[in-house]
Amino acid sequence: MKLWSKGFEPDKLIEEFTVGQDRQLDMRLAKYDVQGSMAHIRMLESIGLLSKSELDVLLEALSDILAMIERGEFEIEPGVEDVHSQVEFLLTARLGDIGKKIHSGRSRNDQVLVDLKLFMRDELLRIADAVNHLFERFQSLSEKYGNVLMPGYTHLQIAMPSSFGLWFGAYAESLVDDMQLLVSAYNIANQNPLGSAAGYGSSFPLDRSMTTRLLGFEDMHYNVVAAQMSRGKTERAASFAISAIASTLGHFAMDVCMYMCQNFGFISFPDELTTGSSIMPHKKNPDVFEIMRGKCNRLQSVSNEIALLTANLPLGYNRDLQLLKDIVFPATTTLIECLDMCDFMLQHIKVNDDILSDKKYDYLFTVEDVNRMTLSGVPFREAYRTIGLQVQAGEYKPTREVHHTHQGSIGNLCNAEIARKMKKMMSALGK
Ligand code: ARG
Repeated sequence: MKLWSKGFEPDKLIEEFTVGQDRQLDMRLAKYDVQGSMAHIRMLESIGLLSKSELDVLLEALSDILAMIERGEFEIEPGVEDVHSQVEFLLTARLGDIGKKIHSGRSRNDQVLVDLKLFMRDELLRIADAVNHLFERFQSLSEKYGNVLMPGYTHLQIAMPSSFGLWFGAYAESLVDDMQLLVSAYNIANQNPLGSAAGYGSSFPLDRSMTTRLLGFEDMHYNVVAAQMSRGKTERAASFAISAIASTLGHFAMDVCMYMCQNFGFISFPDELTTGSSIMPHKKNPDVFEIMRGKCNRLQSVSNEIALLTANLPLGYNRDLQLLKDIVFPATTTLIECLDMCDFMLQHIKVNDDILSDKKYDYLFTVEDVNRMTLSGVPFREAYRTIGLQVQAGEYKPTREVHHTHQGSIGNLCNAEIARKMKKMMSALGK
């Protein structure tokens, strides 16, 4: 049975093809669908399209459905297309004609839009929390290992001294930049599309400010066509944030794989957090970080998938838009899983605190020694040449002293300043 049934049922093949994954995916929209309906009927009552007593019974029935959803007892039955249909069927089964009144002044097009806005808002906040946890983990590791030196590379060649303080702290600050995109995506999601109906508004005098307020949106998409256009744009904005975070995390995962390698030996994890080989008995592999790297790389394709799916669609609703859910829903889940896993692993990371005493890292200190000579009055280019000639002749002996004091350097990490920036991002999200 379809909401739009007019005396014939579509062919089974057609139904399965067009419904696709919706019965499973829409389960994640269920609570938002009910919240959207509650706001919509309150508004319908305020403009005289429902009586107070009709509103009361509808609200009670919707609260019961919400409770069912929370108990995990709600399902989209076979033969029912989507969550919007299921909720309406439950209401009409219980309340008859009153249930049939709920859809005045709206369409499934703005219903799914509002569900998705509410869903995205919550998902982005969950991502923000996971990012913030990982941020705090990076910062505390940066503080804890602030004085432990490690090699810094350029061109993957030994370059200058770095430290675990810098390494961990760098990923913390990088996440702050990603959060800028997340805040923008959140602001785009935080606008009410309800009332745009099929995409062109309604001849009922809908009070859209009221539903905006009831659903806690910051503002509304005023133009009803723009509201419909926000399907896909909201997801796309979110995908940019997802991609940025995934890129940072994937980069870190790569570092970890490399630094765990015996040739580097900078870090390790307890045996039970590594994986083995079926043939090589000695193996302790970094599979966690390899899977994380792979997942994070895939997540960066989400914005491309969205771009291709929505490119050049005609203005107004098109069913292609349904497939956005297939792309975006797993993406937010995967990202949060990766962020949480990274945080978990970092609780157990072991840091090698004696890396630089190995002679192969001697050349890390050449710049330090050039700078020391420069400070004692030798012109920089001359000091550079002196140390360079020592290196050429195999006579260079590093002093192994590191004196970095400027902001953001080994000796002055500025973690508090970075924490302040992150705080600003979180408070832009109302946290
Ligand atoms: N499942 C549909 C979607 O996600 C719901 C909206 C259906 N609207 C329509 N005109 N067929 O887009």
